[in-house]
Amino acid sequence: MPMSPFGHGRASKPLQFLTLAVGLVAMTVMTIPDLSASGHSVALVALWCCLAVYAVDLSSKAWPRSESQPNYLSSVSGIIDLLAVLPIPIALLLGVPPQTAWLLAGLWILKLATVVPGLGMLGRVIALEKRALGSVIVIFLTILVLASVALHVLEGQAQPRQFGSLPLSLWWAVTTLSSTGYGDAVPQTFLGRLIAGMVMISGLGVFGLWTGILATGFAAEHRRRDFIRNWDLVTQVPFFKNLDPPTVIELTRMLRRLDLAPNTMVVRRGRKGDSMFFIAQGEVEVKLEPNPVKLAAGAFFGEMALLTGGPRMANVVTTQPTTLLALEAADFHTLTAHHPDLARAVAAEAALRSKGSNDKPAAPAKKTRERKAQ
Ligand code: CMP
Repeated sequence: MPMSPFGHGRASKPLQFLTLAVGLVAMTVMTIPDLSASGHSVALVALWCCLAVYAVDLSSKAWPRSESQPNYLSSVSGIIDLLAVLPIPIALLLGVPPQTAWLLAGLWILKLATVVPGLGMLGRVIALEKRALGSVIVIFLTILVLASVALHVLEGQAQPRQFGSLPLSLWWAVTTLSSTGYGDAVPQTFLGRLIAGMVMISGLGVFGLWTGILATGFAAEHRRRDFIRNWDLVTQVPFFKNLDPPTVIELTRMLRRLDLAPNTMVVRRGRKGDSMFFIAQGEVEVKLEPNPVKLAAGAFFGEMALLTGGPRMANVVTTQPTTLLALEAADFHTLTAHHPDLARAVAAEAALRSKGSNDKPAAPAKKTRERKAQ
């Protein structure tokens, strides 16, 4: 089975971007009329190399691994990979001049869609918001048709070259509605100008609506994705193990995930506290003098400033790549007001810590209840 030249590791994406950049630059260079013969040869070699890399990449992905595996070539990525590899050799074989055939390397830009994850997200947002976006398109088309018909009637005789036919006035309506307005067709009658003004204002509204729908869709999609990622983490934190599902949902919406590098200062001594943190993965060190304390996955910190309203009592620094779940002060107070169990567990741990007892890890809610009952 052939191996992908891009590999599967961290270097895969930069390599793909590099190949694409080399290919597109070479294609651009090839179109320069007074390019030297050596420059032409270098560009041509670069183009053939890129094509060969894409061909090997395609065959490695299309190679059947198991019978149950869906056919790669019928997926969107497969079709894009085919478009990157096949058209150029076909054009060359059909006798298209190389200068023109290599312009098909412009299709390589489609590969960006398979590399950049944001584009997949755009596709999901458009699919989810298709009804709202569809109604904006209907408004757009309605204004377009009504305005072009009106302008054809009002201006057609006075300005036959600009509004003499419906296609001509449609062109005017598109440029006006999209607020491009080349000024090549300007209504002369009072009514025509009145309609033109209304079309321009409607254009702003239509594009505003379009932008608003996409922006809200993106925000909702981000929230959904964060919710799923946070849900996994929240259910791993022992402190939340005994919470009922509705509370876990409430909590997951409140928590913000932070992926931090080692040696990141999360909490600074003396500062006002605006959040507390749960360690989902990794480790932090509370820089207490003379004996610093390490807190591992499952523990929490930063609760004392929230409980007392006073300043942070120590610096807290990550010791390795760490994932935290941050709970803002307002959410902390809402949550503890609704869940006295959690409030008691956090307060009990804070009391132990302020007495300087470092030997107990942050206690899950249930254990704290047991300790109180004894
Ligand atoms: P806060 O004062 O908001 O910020 C520093 C945090 O360090 C503090 O909250 C506690 O969460 C944590 N901390 C303080 N003392 C101890 C201790 N003895 N053991 C573990 N963590 C502590």
